[in-house]
Amino acid sequence: MDELKSIIRDIPDFPKKGIIFKDITTLLADAKSYQRMIDLISHRYVGQHIDKVVGVEARGFIIGSALAYKLGAGVVLVRKPGKLPSETFSKTYDLEYGTDTLEIHTDAIKPGEKILIADDLLATGGTTAAVVDMVQKMGGEIVECCFMVELEFLDGKKRLPEGKVFSLLQF
Ligand code: PRP
Repeated sequence: MDELKSIIRDIPDFPKKGIIFKDITTLLADAKSYQRMIDLISHRYVGQHIDKVVGVEARGFIIGSALAYKLGAGVVLVRKPGKLPSETFSKTYDLEYGTDTLEIHTDAIKPGEKILIADDLLATGGTTAAVVDMVQKMGGEIVECCFMVELEFLDGKKRLPEGKVFSLLQF
């Protein structure tokens, strides 16, 4: 794990002054590391009969679609407003300053389906909490929320279903 962690680089003062941004693009661009990261996360869900992996725009798609392929599951897109063409449910949630909105197709998840939510990063947990809410309203059974990276000091876990959070790398 230390080897994978060391490939993620710190970008100081991005997107604004005082924030040290964890840049995962270096890990994604390294063939062996990307493969290892997907193998390690997907291994956890083999045999759990996941029906669909829900990925969150945009970096969540990179993790979610690879996991779905490995697990023989479908991919469901959670997107920023106005991007999905059919009927959607939407969820607006609070950010540090202001709000954000995410959308999902109303027919993307059927009641009782086993759902894995995937994203690259768990920070405050606001994004994933919004996704959890939408999936639950649609009747999906959340198996777990999985992340490549968790910023533990932000304690995003506490906003997500207890015992249903997994992160591969912690900072
Ligand atoms: C990042 C990241 C998660 C979210 C985590 O996405 O990919 O989706 O923030 O933050 P939170 O736990 O505090 O909600 P971003 O909105 O930067 O979008 P991107 O993937 O399109 O870059």
